[in-house]
Amino acid sequence: MSNEKLIEEIERLKEKRNAIILAHNYQPGEIQDIADHLGDSLGLSRKASKTDADVIIFCGVQFMAETAAILSPDKTVLLPDVKAGCPMADMLTAGKLRDLKKKHPDAVTVAYVNTNAEVKAEVDICCTSSNAVRVVESLKDAPEIIFVPDKYLADYVSKKTNKKLIAWNGFCPSHVKIRPEDILRQKRLHPGAEVMIHPECIPEVIELADDVLSTEGMCKYVKKSRASELIVGTEAGLLYRLRKENPERRFYPASTSAICPTMKIITLKKVLWSLQEMKYAVKVPDDIRIRAEMAVNRMLK
Ligand code: 13P
Ligand code: SF4
Repeated sequence: MSNEKLIEEIERLKEKRNAIILAHNYQPGEIQDIADHLGDSLGLSRKASKTDADVIIFCGVQFMAETAAILSPDKTVLLPDVKAGCPMADMLTAGKLRDLKKKHPDAVTVAYVNTNAEVKAEVDICCTSSNAVRVVESLKDAPEIIFVPDKYLADYVSKKTNKKLIAWNGFCPSHVKIRPEDILRQKRLHPGAEVMIHPECIPEVIELADDVLSTEGMCKYVKKSRASELIVGTEAGLLYRLRKENPERRFYPASTSAICPTMKIITLKKVLWSLQEMKYAVKVPDDIRIRAEMAVNRMLK
């Protein structure tokens, strides 16, 4: 079936099922093009909690679809490929987090949304890359703060807030591929370019940034900036959106190796199949969901 036919069929079934398509900024271009809402983890969580649709097709990874299911238990949340996991989220289990909490019984626990639902159920509050600094700043009276699972985001937040954080040893395998030499090379090639870096990057890369931003933050930054050239320090999928929205500007990936393989396995065919078969439904059992919802809602508030 041609892409046009696939899209036609997706549109028809979307209407029949009263479905919406939410897509993360790292999704392949063909998926970004059919999304009703495209965004970062925070923006998509907000959309998922507010939509009137009966079915949410989540084009992203497992923890994102789970967050939608946590916030909208009465809706059907579908992930078009069940293998679309997040390697960083899988670096921490609820059991390991419970062990860490036992060592720091007075600590407040913050989890990046890039965690599985059973981990969210163990924490006091969630955060995303766009609000992590504000979330930690809000914990003024906390004697200690545990921050999981991304040690690089923890390091960035700790420096911004002047707070010592107890971090987990997790990281994003795609963002750590961006090295300081990559940024320096791009800066040499494009001396006037501004540098945007995602806080999942290593500290030596973050030091070279003009600004440190979530993916949606980068889209907004470009609109405000006068720079005609920008170096993009995040997963390469964001470049598709940046180029489409700003055809007059030039964007250079900090590193062409920064690709998240599981973000790329969603295809138009799988989205259509997902709508036809109503699969794979992402469900979070109530005993986990209710506790996880409190942590996500604290962040959203
Ligand atoms: P944001 O889009 O929220 O910045 O998240 C980046 C990311 O790595 C999602 O997996
Ligand atoms: Fe997980 Fe990194 Fe992929 Fe985001 S880019 S889904 S954090 S592995």
